[in-house]
Amino acid sequence: MCSLVFLCARKVVSDHSSIHKALDFIPKELYPVLFKAAFIDKKTLVLRDLVHRWPFTVLSFRKLLEDTNKHEFSTTAKEEPSKLCVQTVILGVIANLNEGLALGDKEHNTRRHQLRLLDMTGLQDGGINDDPQTMSLWSRTVTLAKACIEVSKRQCEEAKRAWKRRKGMGSTLVAANAPDDQLYVEVRVDLFVNSTSYGVLREALQVSTSSPLRLKCRDFRAEELSIRSTVGLLELLDSASVRQVDLRFNNLGLSGLNMLLPYMAKFPSLLSLKLPYNNIDVRRLSVEMEKGLQSFATEIGRLSSLKELNLGASRLSGRLRQLLGGLNNPLESLELAFCHLLPSDISYLSESIHVPSLKKLDLSGNNLSELLLHPFQRLISRVSASLLYLDIMECKLTDTHLEAILPSIYLCSKLRYLGIFCNPISCQGLKTFVLRSTPLHDLQLVIYPYPVDCYSESLPWPTSLCSFQDTCFIEEKMSQFTVDLHRIVEEAHRTDVVWTTDLYKHRTLEYLNL
Ligand SMILES: *[C@@H]1O[C@H](CO)[C@@H](O)[C@H](O)[C@H]1NC(C)=O
Ligand SMILES: *[C@@H]1O[C@H](CO)[C@@H](O)[C@H](O)[C@H]1NC(C)=O
Repeated sequence: MCSLVFLCARKVVSDHSSIHKALDFIPKELYPVLFKAAFIDKKTLVLRDLVHRWPFTVLSFRKLLEDTNKHEFSTTAKEEPSKLCVQTVILGVIANLNEGLALGDKEHNTRRHQLRLLDMTGLQDGGINDDPQTMSLWSRTVTLAKACIEVSKRQCEEAKRAWKRRKGMGSTLVAANAPDDQLYVEVRVDLFVNSTSYGVLREALQVSTSSPLRLKCRDFRAEELSIRSTVGLLELLDSASVRQVDLRFNNLGLSGLNMLLPYMAKFPSLLSLKLPYNNIDVRRLSVEMEKGLQSFATEIGRLSSLKELNLGASRLSGRLRQLLGGLNNPLESLELAFCHLLPSDISYLSESIHVPSLKKLDLSGNNLSELLLHPFQRLISRVSASLLYLDIMECKLTDTHLEAILPSIYLCSKLRYLGIFCNPISCQGLKTFVLRSTPLHDLQLVIYPYPVDCYSESLPWPTSLCSFQDTCFIEEKMSQFTVDLHRIVEEAHRTDVVWTTDLYKHRTLEYLNL
């Protein structure tokens, strides 16, 4: 629901020429709500004026656009930011800096721009739908990198011009024209880079320390980047500000990762390390590779703030104890999807230091149906006091298995998210689950599978996610099930939970946002 102030703000920003004239008389307390209204209604001219006169030292997208309704998984999920609006804000900040640079030392003390920190972290990144109206994290990274380079060039030009001026005046104080280090805006950002944008980002990070536009990276993500390039960027990040490093699809292998981990030990606030799809394979290790495994364990043990680790899509069979053995502090999030885990790995977890603190666990893609079932039940009971998020998609679970694990899942009274997509569970199995979900009073979102009995019997059961998308389930059965489920959800008083098969729409459930 919108507040009265917000509704008024929308009205005010709808007329650019009036607000433009009135801006000098508007109290600064109203700037935030005007910003929000202008951003949401895409009033770019108004946004530009607001940024130009921003009366505070901080402009934080997250704080300004924050939904007052805090239900994370509700249908009012935050939208991706409008491309035009984000560009307007960035251009506005650059314009302010350029203005300041052109004024040089002259107005040192009377400078009118207050802004010191532009916080762009936490903006959504859909990434899947290429909506031209919105701006992905990747293109935000490129835009900011270019802006940073541009402002830095401008600064050099202005410095040269000032130097010439002084020389012309015969001043002896030529050396005194150090760049105006009072004039800067720090930009706190999440960065996403691949080989296409590597060059521009590297250049930007290189000039960033002395540029008036200073990039401070919070969450760093690189895809399909070589070890050398990755090192090249990690070295340049401001070490104090890095919170997450996500290196996926980089095919680094254990040895490649071992080369990168020492750089990450330099980030004292690194909470989250994501290394999925990096071709880690611990089967049949040579002596050399055994050493590599040891050194991996030692290196991650040095990441003293680490709370989240993702080793998804690695072959870890039987070696989890060794891999995680170096960690001295308990993790709160562990993602081990498609890791070919063995019973000994799951048993190790239930005895590990991580048990009392685990909030998020992703064991998708591990076959929990037989040998892993009992260790898994035990693990869930043990982590039940802290668990908020459980993903067990594509785990070959049938009704019988679900029946077997539900008692331990019911112990997780804080559970907010459950992902059981792509398991061969029947309509009846799902209905029973809904009816008996009362103990999970914090539950907010369940991603359930298309029931196995809604598929044609003549076709094989689609065993993986990819084959799921286009397999033909029987439409009538499926729509009948949807109607039934709806009724049961009402009967069970579980309309407070989002029940869905759409895993793309609800992808933003990051541990760091839990
Ligand atoms: C890098 O990512 C961008 C945006 O998703 C994409 O357009 C580009 O093709 C990618 N580059 C490579 C080399 O994959
Ligand atoms: C799951 O693993 C068991 C062995 O633990 C195996 O017998 C079974 O065939 C597997 N199930 C599926 C559906 O792959």
